[in-house]
This record gives sequence, C-alpha cells and structure tokens, in this order.
Amino acid sequence: MSYNLLNGKKGIIFGALDSKSIAWKIAEKAHDEGAVFTLSNTPVALRFGEIQLLSEKCNAEVIPADATNVSDLEKVFTRTMELFGGKIDFVLHSIGMSMNVRKGRDYDDLDYDFFLKTIDVSALSFHKMLQVARKLDAINDWGSVLALSYIAAQRTLVGYNDMADAKALLESIARSFGYIYGRDKHIRINTISQSPTRTTAGSAIKGMDGLVDFTDRMSPLGNATAEECADFSIVLFSDLSRKVTMQNIYHDGGFSSMAMSLRAMTQYNKSLDEQS
Ligand SMILES: NC(=O)c1ccc[n+]([C@@H]2O[C@H](COP(=O)([O-])OP(=O)(O)OC[C@H]3O[C@@H](n4cnc5c(N)ncnc54)[C@H](O)[C@@H]3O)[C@@H](O)[C@H]2O)c1
Repeated sequence: MSYNLLNGKKGIIFGALDSKSIAWKIAEKAHDEGAVFTLSNTPVALRFGEIQLLSEKCNAEVIPADATNVSDLEKVFTRTMELFGGKIDFVLHSIGMSMNVRKGRDYDDLDYDFFLKTIDVSALSFHKMLQVARKLDAINDWGSVLALSYIAAQRTLVGYNDMADAKALLESIARSFGYIYGRDKHIRINTISQSPTRTTAGSAIKGMDGLVDFTDRMSPLGNATAEECADFSIVLFSDLSRKVTMQNIYHDGGFSSMAMSLRAMTQYNKSLDEQS
C-alpha cells in the first residue's frame, strides 16, 4: 500500500547489494512512495551483486563509488544533482563492513589495519558523505539523511566485534553533524538502530542465528524485519518527521528496553532446576 509520502522527493541510496539488503527494501518502498533516486555501491558490489535488477525496477541510475573515497562521493552527488536538475531531499547510508569479522579475528586479537578499515567504511564514510553534500550544497532545506546502526553501539553483544565501535562513532557523527546541518539548513540526520536481520553483512556476524532467535523471543513485538525497517525509513525521509534530528531511534520490537522476559525467566529457572 502506498501513501505517496515521498512524492516529488529526490535522493541517493547507498548500500543495496542484493534483494536481502535493507537498502534494497528501502529503495523499493521509496519508489512505491513516489521518490526518484540514484543507487550507489562499490564497483565490486556492482559486479557481484544484483543491483541492475533494482535499477531497472526503480528506474534508478547506478553510480559506482567507494564510500571511503571523497572524490567518488563528489561524483555521486554531482551526477545525481545533474540528473534531477537540482538539489536532493534524502540520503541513505546503509554501509557496513569489518574484515576482522570476516576473518574471524576476535575483539582481543584485532588486526589494526582491518580495524581502521572498519571505522572508515562503516562510520567515517558517513561523515565524508555529509561533508561532501554540505560543500556541494546538495541537499534541500528540511532534507533528511539516515544511516543504519545497531544496539551494539550501546550494549555489548558477543560477536559484534569492532563493528560496535564503528556504530558508536556513526551515531555520534549523526549528532555532531546533525547540529551543524540542522542549524544552517534545517537538514535532519538520524540513525535507525535495527533488529538483527539476515543479510550478507548481518550473516557475517558470529552466532547470528542464535542472536536473531534470542532477540526475537526477548522483544515484545518480535524482531523488526528489513521491510519494516524500510517502512520506518520512509517516514524519516518524509515531511511527517520534520523535527526529528540527531537521534538514534531503536527499531527493534522493544528489545532495547528489555532486560528479562517471562519466557526467558521461565527458561532460566528451568535450567537451574535441571542442574539441582
Ligand atoms: N543485518 C543486520 O543485522 C543489521 C542490523 C542493524 C544494522 N545493520 C546495518 O545496516 C546496513 C546495511 O547492511 P545490510 O544488513 O543490509 O547488509 P548488506 O551486506 O546487504 O549491505 C552492506 C552494504 O555495504 C556496502 N559496502 C561495503 N563497503 C563499502 C564501501 N567501501 N563503499 C560503499 N559501500 C560499501 C556493501 O557493498 C553492501 O551493499 C549496515 O550499516 C549494517 O551494519 C544491519
């Protein structure tokens, strides 16, 4: 069902790799809601992913860019403005990668070159995107910029590794840049802290299946799906959320406010009984 919430809005969506990607679902919904946008991902992702399918479906040009490379980002913003004949209204940063996670390096045995790469790809790229957009004056007043985060920024979850530090920085950048961009241009910057979701990046996390099951059982509303994340992202891109900025908003079925559920307590007591 479409509400035309993004009618007339123009944007850039970074990070759609395949149909499981959260950015993919957001692109589909943004298209349904009347937005026009370009898509961007790394040249490697464009070769191995399925982005051409999404591009055809949404009638969206694909612009290759490594989001850690400022001149690549300048090209994405410049080309998008050229295509749409002016400034844009929304930007999605849906990018994350850790070589330490990929290579199975534990948090007390990190490779520091990998760690710097994690920070650069998963957090600094957000700052670079915002700085490029601001210097090019690429975003309309009251525009909306969104990045995707995870609760490991606040709480320790086994297996999330150096991505936790990257997410903490990502959320801090949303606040720090949100102040400047809000003050000067009324542009809002937020992060959505999404439930664990089975995607390519998500599946790289050690113990992902157990984590998905645990958070689903612990959340009163159950885990939020990628489609539900897309719905919420549309609201944050729309004019219905004009005064929401510098926030990290949990989209997790209530998990972030839980400590112990009836179900978990019952299971815990049962395991104690079994031991005695
Ligand atoms: N899947 C989850 O459980 C979950 C939960 C909370 C937040 N997130 C966040 O959601 C975002 C999207 O991840 P996803 O789960 O949809 O997985 P995904 O693997 O589909 O998306 C990650 C994207 O990052 C892109 N990317 C990696 N390096 C890049 C670079 N240098 N330049 C540009 N793009 C680059 C990849 O090509 C890919 O498209 C990430 O920030 C992730 O941390 C995911």
